[in-house]
Amino acid sequence: MKLRIYEENEPVLRLKAKPISKITKRIRELAKNMLETMYHANGVGLAAPQVGISERLIVIDVGEGPLILINPKIVEKEGQDRDVEGCLSIPGRSEYITRAAKVKATGINLDGKPITVEGEGLLARALQHEIDHLDGILFIDYLKEQK
Ligand code: NI
Repeated sequence: MKLRIYEENEPVLRLKAKPISKITKRIRELAKNMLETMYHANGVGLAAPQVGISERLIVIDVGEGPLILINPKIVEKEGQDRDVEGCLSIPGRSEYITRAAKVKATGINLDGKPITVEGEGLLARALQHEIDHLDGILFIDYLKEQK
């Protein structure tokens, strides 16, 4: 089921999302619906607050298949990379944003197993962008400090 994507001015996008303590059917369905919503919108990532759910779940697909991360955390960052970035919650806008070039993230998958994801390029950018959403941060927030 395709979900409504919340936009920039909606308060849920500014909340600190809650950790997920139990992987229920609701969470599995949410992940599935978020992927469907992301693919339909031609996005490479989506965070639960973007569909109005203030919980720590992100989905990403940078062309290597779907990645679902619950309670994700960036545990290592390396280097810098400046590239164009957009967000499904801020349609029609893209800006150059400086991010870490390589990251390592941890989280749990839908089976409740701990997973580690290492990425560079678009995957590193997507991980940082989506995890930011869980802390109420939007990419445009970096524009002021990076100018
Ligand atoms: Ni976004």
